[in-house]
Amino acid sequence: MSKLIVVSNRVARPGGGSGSEGGLSVGVNAAMKERGGVWFGWNGKIENKNTNELNSYESGNINYVTVGLSKSEYNDYYKGYANSVLWPAFHHRPELMDYHESDLQGYLKVNIKFANLLRPLIDDDDVIWIHDYHLIPLGEILRKMGVNNPIGFFLHTPFPPQDLLRAIPGYKKILEALMEYDLVGFHTETDRRCFTGGVMHGLDGRELNMGRLSTGRAQTRSGVYPIGIETDNVSEMSGKGKRSTEYTRLRDSLSDRKLIIGVDRLDYSKGLMHRFKAFEGLLKNYPEFLRKVVYLQISPTSRGDVEAYHELAEQIDRLAGHIIGTYADFDWMPIRYINRGFRRATVFAMYQLARVGFVTPLRDGMNLVAKEYLAAQNPEDPGVLVLSKMAGAAAELDAALIVNPYDSQNVSKVLKQALKMPLDERIDRWQHCMEILKRNNIYAWQENFMTDLLAEAQR
Ligand code: G6P
Repeated sequence: MSKLIVVSNRVARPGGGSGSEGGLSVGVNAAMKERGGVWFGWNGKIENKNTNELNSYESGNINYVTVGLSKSEYNDYYKGYANSVLWPAFHHRPELMDYHESDLQGYLKVNIKFANLLRPLIDDDDVIWIHDYHLIPLGEILRKMGVNNPIGFFLHTPFPPQDLLRAIPGYKKILEALMEYDLVGFHTETDRRCFTGGVMHGLDGRELNMGRLSTGRAQTRSGVYPIGIETDNVSEMSGKGKRSTEYTRLRDSLSDRKLIIGVDRLDYSKGLMHRFKAFEGLLKNYPEFLRKVVYLQISPTSRGDVEAYHELAEQIDRLAGHIIGTYADFDWMPIRYINRGFRRATVFAMYQLARVGFVTPLRDGMNLVAKEYLAAQNPEDPGVLVLSKMAGAAAELDAALIVNPYDSQNVSKVLKQALKMPLDERIDRWQHCMEILKRNNIYAWQENFMTDLLAEAQR
């Protein structure tokens, strides 16, 4: 019987949650649970030597197959090209790119290593689904090895417009590699259009019907598949999370103050500096909220050995210290800023306590926190989502309070609006968003992508 093989750099092994998981591992994990198959990727370890040793582990209907990276593979591929070149450029921060020639070579080498290890696991009728910017060349390498199975690719980040794309050393290789997939999926139409523009200008390609693109040499189809969540599961988990001591302690510590919550990996794309300034603006411009609100920001450290992340961490520490020093009282802290993660159930329960979900990335592929915040709410007394228009989620969740994260003064105003919103309006907006989340859930994401992939591969 045909099996699904999912490949991603990060593999969410059961029980391995650190609280800092990004959208990819959360989303793919939920989709895999339903269909089962092989999930192949990095085991998260940096080994002292080069290793091709596979670890394989079965849980439920998923066979997790992982491999370690040597220090130099990790440096060039993960820390280098993936997270110091593609990540900043794909999130519109080219000035944060830090490129060395060895990065691109190392990136290609690890993709070849993955292909060599994966090849023996592939049977003729399997379907292969590759995820995210770490592994863009993998499909092309597998094709060169004679793999004729359907191969799809999904990008969990934004895709940059042509002018920015051009700034990436090796960008033509990236485009050519993407052209080798049967189907390339994005979260939003904006990203898909940027990809189309890249292929047209960068590779002299043409746009055909149904999102298909051709360069003469290669043809692929592009499509939009916004990743979703398991809405019922989030709400069940938030119920369970209420039994945790963390939840109880947070609830008791608030007394009658309103809670604003933000949960993001500590990443410059998340807009934490702008967000903190907007919160400061709320305290400064609307003193009625002094002592009446608490902003809890949970930001586990992420990619801590990449320089740009260090600098960000220091800047945020300073700003948080400044806001606390300026506005706190001996019995009230306006900001609680925490650099570690919590269990997902606990976080979901905390979402239910929060009157405002504060999700204002400067650029984000989708942002599942926005969706999970909504799904965790009490239907009779839901909170309000303040959502950046620069997150993929804003394309679906138009009933949230949509803000421009760069306009901190306006974000302060919108925070005020959220904190004062009457119950009937909160319920209306929440119901509207939930209809969309239920329709575009994680299963729809997986099914729609798979249906199009199989149809395209059969043409
Ligand atoms: C984002 C990326 C994912 C990545 C996650 C966590 O969501 O799109 O591919 O898994 O961040 O980042 P990390 O570097 O810890 O894998």
